[in-house]
Amino acid sequence: MTDPKSHWGKAYTDDDITVYYDARRCIHFAACVRGLPQVFNPQAKPWIKADAAPAEQIAGVVRRCPTGALHYELKNGPAESPEPTSVEVRENGPLFLRGDLTIAAPDSATPGGEVKDTRAALCRCGASSNKPFCDGTHRNGFRAEGGQKLNTA
Ligand code: SF4
Ligand code: FES
Repeated sequence: MTDPKSHWGKAYTDDDITVYYDARRCIHFAACVRGLPQVFNPQAKPWIKADAAPAEQIAGVVRRCPTGALHYELKNGPAESPEPTSVEVRENGPLFLRGDLTIAAPDSATPGGEVKDTRAALCRCGASSNKPFCDGTHRNGFRAEGGQKLNTA
């Protein structure tokens, strides 16, 4: 079985937490920037400062990232546990999935095998360069109704 962390991207480490960021799965939803601007600042370098807030607080904001672009590992704390499975249809955008997910995908999107995750945004417009994941290309004019939340336990 593939190590889930092999899909988590670049690591930003402090004593108590490591935050991982995969730019290919970020659609600039900005839940992170709104949640903790002193940690997630796209204008700064590095853009993630894992020492700028308590580790538990950072973990809480990472869990708000709907696409799985962000992950974390606490030095002395539990791993993220999956929420009840849900699918949310976003207006003019992707499907947001939460739960105990196993995603089989082309090697180009998931080198090393299937993706195990708790959060993902799947492309609904067909134009993503990182299918099955959304890469934000739907902003170039994709139109479809949304607002439905399905299969919520
Ligand atoms: S997709 Fe995730 S990492 Fe990207 S801006 Fe949104 S919350 Fe932040
Ligand atoms: S739905 Fe976002 S790129 Fe297709």
